[in-house]
Amino acid sequence: MRRTNLALLVLSSTFLVLASCTSPDGQNEAMPTRADGAAFFAANCVSCHGAGGQGVGTTADGLAVLPPNLTLLSAENDDRFPAARALSYIYGDPQNSHLARVMPQFGGEMAEDLVPVDIEGVLTPTPRELAGLLVYLESIQQ
Ligand code: HEC
Repeated sequence: MRRTNLALLVLSSTFLVLASCTSPDGQNEAMPTRADGAAFFAANCVSCHGAGGQGVGTTADGLAVLPPNLTLLSAENDDRFPAARALSYIYGDPQNSHLARVMPQFGGEMAEDLVPVDIEGVLTPTPRELAGLLVYLESIQQ
C-alpha cells in the first residue's frame, strides 16, 4: 500500500513538473503541437476538406463552393505558406457573420485563450487551437 502511494506521488509530481513549463506570459501551458492541430483538423475540417486536406470531404459535394485543396496553399503562394491569410480566413470575422461565404468561421469564443505565434515575422496573439492548426496545415503542404 505504502509503495503504491509513493509511486503515485512520484508520478503526480513528475506530471506537475511537466505541466509547469511556463511560457513568457506566465501561462502554465506548452505551445500547441502538430498533433493538437491534426486533432482539431480531424474534428472540425475533415468533413469538408477531406482527411488529408485535399478538398474531398464527405459533405463537400453538396456545397455551393467546393472546398479548396489545403495542401496546395504554399504552391499557390510562391512556395511560401500563407500563414496570415490562412489564419484570418479560418478565424473569420465574428463581427460580420453576414459575410457571404460557405465555410464557417472558427473565431469568436476562441479569442479567450491566445498564444504568441510568429506569423510571417510578426509575433501575433493567436487562439491556441488555431496555433496548432497552422503547424499542422504547414506540415501537409506539397
Ligand atoms: C462547411 C464546410 C467547411 C468546413 C467545415 C471548413 N471549410 Fe475551409 N473552406 C470551405 C470552402 C467552401 C472554402 C472556399 C471559400 C468559401 O467559400 O468559404 C474554404 C476555404 C478555406 C481556406 C482558404 C483557402 C485559400 O484559398 O486561402 C482555408 C485555409 C480553409 N478553408 C481551412 C479550413 C480549416 C482549417 C477548417 C477547420 C478548422 C475548415 N476550413 C473548415 C469549406 C469548409
